Amino acid sequence: MIRTLSPLPTRLPRATAGLNLCHENAEALWRERPPLDFLQVHPEHLLAEVGGTYRDQLDDLRRAYPITLHGFGLSLGSCAPLDHDYLALVRRLLQEHPEAVFSDHVSWSSLSHHHFHDLLPLVLSEETLDYMVERVEQVQEAIGQPLLLENISSYTRYRQSTLGEVDFINALTARSGAFVLLDLNNLWANAINFGDDPETELLSYRRDSVRGFHLAGCTREQGDAGDVYIDYHGEAVHEPVWELYRTALRAFGPWPTLLEWENNVPPLQRTLQEVGRIRSCLDALTAMPSTP
Ligand SMILES: [Fe+2]
Repeated sequence: MIRTLSPLPTRLPRATAGLNLCHENAEALWRERPPLDFLQVHPEHLLAEVGGTYRDQLDDLRRAYPITLHGFGLSLGSCAPLDHDYLALVRRLLQEHPEAVFSDHVSWSSLSHHHFHDLLPLVLSEETLDYMVERVEQVQEAIGQPLLLENISSYTRYRQSTLGEVDFINALTARSGAFVLLDLNNLWANAINFGDDPETELLSYRRDSVRGFHLAGCTREQGDAGDVYIDYHGEAVHEPVWELYRTALRAFGPWPTLLEWENNVPPLQRTLQEVGRIRSCLDALTAMPSTP
């Protein structure tokens, strides 16, 4: 069944450029308050940091800037029950921040009560799809609005998978009414690592399902079987990923775009240059007469 959910409520304006808030950049952001369209906040940080300098800065900053909420601990694909205390926090934050949307990943990261510090890929099958639709619907019910689902980077594929990643996500969003937060670095790195064509993958997403973009820098590492790109968020965005981003803007529209840089974090001015480059890409597209 294809669901027609109400469109994502009016949230962040389109054509906005933001930056992730993390322990490494909080102090500089808090001190300098640079002009940014939005900050991305992890609800997990509000749970983990019940006091202290970072929590104070986070609270100040989320009141000073529009925010988006990006989770990494939901473990949608796990068989453990969803954490309803966590979802209640997200619901509360969404009420406090009417501009915010909430996103997490098409992955799993916990088994029983054990949490892995990684986003692990799913077996992409019809059975998993049915399960994920159910889980996404439960989350949407709990938070009171559609969820944004991010494509992950992964370094393994399962023989048991019967669906491609994009087909899986297309079916999941169509059936659940969720939207896609398209991480172009993850898409590009997966395609290169597995020998697929990044643009073909990109243009296979349903046009009306995408509501945001992530950009980050991956790291090239030498493995036994050849070079592999690891999604480390520790360097500048690679040129082919910028190229893919411009293609994505033309295909899907100028949705809010976030730069993620949380390892080897350089001085704030360097990170802001990357955000400025996002802004230039958005401005160039919105200046065109036939912006989607
Ligand atoms: Fe991302």
